[in-house]
Amino acid sequence: LGGGSLQQDLAGTRVLISAGGTREPLDPVRYLGNRSSGRQGWALARTAAARGAEVTLVAANVEDAAPFGCTVVPVGSAAELHAAMTARTGDADVVVMAAAVADFRPTEVAADKLKKGSSSEPTAVALTRNPDVLADLVAARRAGQLVVGFAAETGDADDDVLGHARAKLARKGCDLLVVNDVSAGQVFGRPDNAVTVLAADGAVTEVAAAGKDTVAAAVWDVVVPRLGSRR
Ligand code: CTP
Ligand code: CA
Repeated sequence: LGGGSLQQDLAGTRVLISAGGTREPLDPVRYLGNRSSGRQGWALARTAAARGAEVTLVAANVEDAAPFGCTVVPVGSAAELHAAMTARTGDADVVVMAAAVADFRPTEVAADKLKKGSSSEPTAVALTRNPDVLADLVAARRAGQLVVGFAAETGDADDDVLGHARAKLARKGCDLLVVNDVSAGQVFGRPDNAVTVLAADGAVTEVAAAGKDTVAAAVWDVVVPRLGSRR
């Protein structure tokens, strides 16, 4: 296999990852969406598979081809992502929520295309809160299963980035939270970004500015010692 040693520290581990960004339908042709590319989720899947894991990717609106060796389950909306993750979580040793899930969806979805000048011409969009997939996966977590969340945070008048992130980790109840500092100038327009991995057990792992594969590898490096003999 050539020169480098091939790390197989995820051999036999079943990994379930959500990636991409959900689209919340307004009518048959329109949706509310977000800019998530799915690339961080793809990097997590690729690196886990390379280290021996059995990977299922629940992919919301990602065009990229499936990473080698991974099973891809395509979904559209937050409701579909929620159902797909809930159906598969029981088999997973590690669950990673890298998808950007819309917090809200249009309360009503028009059966027919909304038209200009019609009696139904909309003037506003009413929104309804979507289920919190991560919180539901944590609630359904079986013994020994590790649940990983992601968060993009900025500091503000109330708290700094890590303060907000620690509060989110506690609120969500997951085992690890991968935190991206998106304060002005930190991420936008830059190819690399630094992350901090917070663990519920208090451990803090800083990952210096790096590409998405390096961030993904760092996440698995934090996960592996926490898997113990659970598999
Ligand atoms: N998430 C989820 N379901 C949602 C919203 C978010 O599973 N409806 C997950 C994301 O995939 C991510 C984590 O929760 O792993 C944190 O997402 P974030 O948007 O930072 O958290 P929210 O609870 O939505 O908080 P905020 O109000 O700051 O957006
Ligand atoms: Ca959110």
